Amino acid sequence: MAPLKGNLVFGQSGGPTSVINASAAGVFLEALDHPDIIPRVFGMRHGIEGILKDELYDISKEDRSELNFLYGTPSSILGTCRYKLADPSIDDSDYRRIVAILKKYDIRYFFYNGGNDSMDTCLKVSRYLKDHQYECRVIGIPKTIDNDLCGTDHCPGFGSAARYLATSIAEVWQDTHSYRTPMAVVFECMGRHAGWLAGASALAGLNGHGPDLIYLPEVPFDQDRMIADARRVLEKKNVVLISVSEGIMTADGRLVAEQLSSRATDAFGHKQLGGTAALLADLLAGELNLKVRAIEFSLLQRSAAHCASGVDIAEADLAGRSGVRAAIEGTSDVMMGYGRPTGPAYRCDIIQVPLEQVANHEKTVPSDWIRPEGNGVTQAFIDYALPLIQGEPCQVTEEGLPRFARLMKVPAEARP
Ligand code: F6P
Repeated sequence: MAPLKGNLVFGQSGGPTSVINASAAGVFLEALDHPDIIPRVFGMRHGIEGILKDELYDISKEDRSELNFLYGTPSSILGTCRYKLADPSIDDSDYRRIVAILKKYDIRYFFYNGGNDSMDTCLKVSRYLKDHQYECRVIGIPKTIDNDLCGTDHCPGFGSAARYLATSIAEVWQDTHSYRTPMAVVFECMGRHAGWLAGASALAGLNGHGPDLIYLPEVPFDQDRMIADARRVLEKKNVVLISVSEGIMTADGRLVAEQLSSRATDAFGHKQLGGTAALLADLLAGELNLKVRAIEFSLLQRSAAHCASGVDIAEADLAGRSGVRAAIEGTSDVMMGYGRPTGPAYRCDIIQVPLEQVANHEKTVPSDWIRPEGNGVTQAFIDYALPLIQGEPCQVTEEGLPRFARLMKVPAEARP
């Protein structure tokens, strides 16, 4: 097949991670190595909104050595969004705009980096372009600390967030065990419908510094059971450490966090979570009459590039680079995913997952990886997650502080 000549556009969407920019670097550096096929590389400002508003950056103008700093720069360097494209049979105005902008900049490679909602955007764009005979290769690059994308063994961003959570919990364990005072600490990890991150806090237990109890959204949450579990731990120890997912729900399907104030809802209908740890810590203080602390990891867990996993960074880069190579070879309408062949040593192979398999679906923690009592994870979970937190971060420091990438972000012009 003759190579499709044209420019490439890349966008980031959804919640950032500490390694999403490693995928950006992978896409940019690989694409810039093929100027005969891809003459120019663009970045969308705030994801798909950057196309709709005609706000693109010309990445070809960036200094390559600066792009290398992306491997240690957290969050979405181009800016992110949570923008839901309408069903084109009801309203195709956004799609017409997208085609116009792709034509304006002669874009033939559309890359979108995000989670299941972003793969929905990729799928809709791809279908519309096909229906309107605009030749363009559409590739999804995965990312989400939530680790809930289908069709892939794991997701870029998860390993680093898992490493940060396990490290922080182990460090807090040291603090909480320094007093004689009885105490309960509740940690809150992200993860709306899937408990991968809260489960990963169990990794801290490998050195004996992990949470005693873990509650995931996969198991209906029962506050009386949590109080009884905590009481049992406190009978043996002075301190109880509890890790919960932000998305834990009671048996009637109500989020524990919903007892809180009226928080905003995004374009995909997701309510902003948070505050669960504070609620549960208050409850424990009242019921057990002891000192409590609530630690909501919130944005820290997805921005902690200083504690990123080297494996995660390398794989995020690989997802970006392989996407470009695959697209040049003619691949379209897939998300780059990770396969894990069985064998004595951990290995990650790139696989291609049809967008339909990923868009709007969620992968939760398998029930046999959750303790039958519903308050922790099993060894199978640990065996799965441990290889993903290995290796060191890529962060460069200046005067003791992180040195992030400084991109010029030159506005793109239709003609070079
Ligand atoms: O992208 C995943 C995620 O980090 C979730 O774990 C979390 O619930 C959500 O994003 C928060 O998103 P936002 O920062 O847009 O409120």
